[in-house]
Amino acid sequence: MFHAPIVPRVRKRSRPAEADVPRREEVKFEDVRLYLVERKMGRSRRSFLTQLARSKGFIVEDVLSDEVTHVVSEDSHASSLWKWLKECAPKNLKTVNVLDISWFTDSMREGRPVAVETRHLIQDNFPTLPEGSTSTPVTTVSQYACQRRTTTENHNKIFTEVLQCGRSFEVEKLLSDERYQTLKLFTSVFGVGPKTAEKWYRRGLRSFTDILADRSVHLNRMQQNGFLHYGDITRAVSKAEARSLRTIIDEAVRAITPAAILALTGGFRRGKEFGHDVDFIVTTPELGKEKSLLPNIINGLKKQGILLFCDYQASTFDMAKLPSYRFEAMDHFAKCFLILRLEASQVEGGLHSADGDSRGWRAVRVDLVSPPVDRYAFALLGWTGSRQFERDLRRFARVKQQMILDNHCLYDKTKKEFLAATTEKDIFAHLGLEYIEPWQRNA
Ligand code: CTP
Ligand code: MN
Ligand code: MN
Repeated sequence: MFHAPIVPRVRKRSRPAEADVPRREEVKFEDVRLYLVERKMGRSRRSFLTQLARSKGFIVEDVLSDEVTHVVSEDSHASSLWKWLKECAPKNLKTVNVLDISWFTDSMREGRPVAVETRHLIQDNFPTLPEGSTSTPVTTVSQYACQRRTTTENHNKIFTEVLQCGRSFEVEKLLSDERYQTLKLFTSVFGVGPKTAEKWYRRGLRSFTDILADRSVHLNRMQQNGFLHYGDITRAVSKAEARSLRTIIDEAVRAITPAAILALTGGFRRGKEFGHDVDFIVTTPELGKEKSLLPNIINGLKKQGILLFCDYQASTFDMAKLPSYRFEAMDHFAKCFLILRLEASQVEGGLHSADGDSRGWRAVRVDLVSPPVDRYAFALLGWTGSRQFERDLRRFARVKQQMILDNHCLYDKTKKEFLAATTEKDIFAHLGLEYIEPWQRNA
């Protein structure tokens, strides 16, 4: 493991953050479009299997659309899987291959989509009702997370189920593959995305020590800080630490604009006990005045001596370019990705730090985003997450209401107009959805 005192060499030219940018892989099999069912598989496992398949030239769709040709599931209960599939009801359900994970592992091993054999198929045996069963419909759970209330407690339940049901040994083998373990390790560093991780792996590097000892490796400023504060920023941030940071940010904001609006967002707004960072939205009640807000806050934090790292991205927001029909990983608001120094004395109950750590402070990742006030509700809804909840909300808007929702706006394609909102409740109402509280958005 990497130990913090090693200071990486500095290179002046800084490259843009890439951590969130999906990498583009060369497509080798145009006719095959996979969809991996997250149920039973879990999110991180699904994401690693997706990466693996894409790296081998497969197309993997994030959503179950009519274009999908192969649905792959780790769910051994055929009836519940088919019930779920029918609820999603892609038009081509009759022609799509519904396959066991063994088809996936066989294909990964071969490096090409193998022919579908009977042993790969998950048969639809749902229509036969058990004898004596009444025709009372089973309560159905909506496929859209925005029509469900998912608290952090639900999560623990799902997690327990996963542990109980066990997993395919073949998949474990795929994921224990040295390449994937190494890529996972490398991408755990702040500022290191899949592309850089892959490049390092190809050069034969396998550990942090390898990377830091290699003279040909150049780290950008974000990655240098990622290594420098690795132990701290890979350690979860506690609720008490988030609360303390809220006070610190609030004071920095009030010193500039007493009337500013500051809201905690992200996982902590959803009531999570721990997070990988702390997210805030900040704006001014007067439209346009928010422009100088983030640079001023950053300056204030710098003067306090607690700014360890700052990647500021100025706004590229332009109402004239909305609505956007293509998927974008990032919104266009001004934002900054920070690493702040948090003193133990400022946290109720002390820091969430490693045993034996007596520094009296820790580094914490903080995100600030600053939309114009008339975009506030959309930004707040978008940054509260969870990512799954947001995906489903957008899909619901698109599929059920012919509307486009993103962090900037809600657009009604039928009426050809933007729908205004000052609160999240307004947005849910426009979408014809019951309001879901932030702590019920933990899908
Ligand atoms: N988000 C976004 N655009 C970004 C980054 C994040 O819209 N460029 C949104 C995502 O929808 C996400 C939320 O902001 O749900 C918070 O992002 P993140 O901090 O990565 O996730 P959390 O849900 O807060 O989880 P954690 O507790 O691990 O930080
Ligand atoms: Mn977060
Ligand atoms: Mn964040």
